[in-house]
Amino acid sequence: MEYAVFGTALQRCRCCHLDRLQNPRSALVLGDGDGRFTACLADRYPDLQIDYLDISGKMIALARRRMERENAAALERIHFHQCDARTATLWAERYDLIAAHFFFDFFSYADIERMISRISALAAPGAAWIVSDFELPSNRPALWARLLLRTMYLFFRFTIGLENQRLSDWRAPLRAHGFVARGASRLWTGFIVSDLWIRAE
Ligand SMILES: C[S@@+](CC[C@H](N)C(=O)[O-])C[C@H]1O[C@@H](n2cnc3c(N)ncnc32)[C@H](O)[C@@H]1O
Repeated sequence: MEYAVFGTALQRCRCCHLDRLQNPRSALVLGDGDGRFTACLADRYPDLQIDYLDISGKMIALARRRMERENAAALERIHFHQCDARTATLWAERYDLIAAHFFFDFFSYADIERMISRISALAAPGAAWIVSDFELPSNRPALWARLLLRTMYLFFRFTIGLENQRLSDWRAPLRAHGFVARGASRLWTGFIVSDLWIRAE
């Protein structure tokens, strides 16, 4: 469905900042679903230890299968965890990279704030946090963007019972926890965004 609606735009967004990272050694990937970003990350950084987290066992199975197909050797450094990102006790002492692609749109501001606050405590100085998500670009967003977003939210409400039905700000909590915006990519006139944030040293 992703490719039918967005073509390659979402995947380009997920991976667009990878060449700008300072050789990360440990990464936390939040809600990566079927593992498209994890696969790309593991390919790009062959020594990176990756904690992949998702609440869905089905998604984890798909992500594992993807890795078996595309890069089985990387499986020994990808650690799959089935848990709720809002409450999970995390695994590494320090992360150099945290990624959340098309994930924060599932949560209220209060949840996002709490997640960023807890996870930031484990971010190394200079750590990168990459966020990709949808955005309604201006005070008067285009009708097509509002309709598409509404349709996606209704789809997730009816298929998985998603309660949250609106986008919330994730930049303010990142800023409040010492991250500084260092790069941004915008596609589809700003409806799809990917930001690179770096934690002040
Ligand atoms: C819209 S999908 C995005 C998947 C992937 N990041 C991508 O870029 O396509 C949201 C993902 O978050 C997972 N998820 C939803 N709520 C979660 C939670 N509370 N904790 C961890 N994962 C969660 C879902 O299972 C799903 O895989």
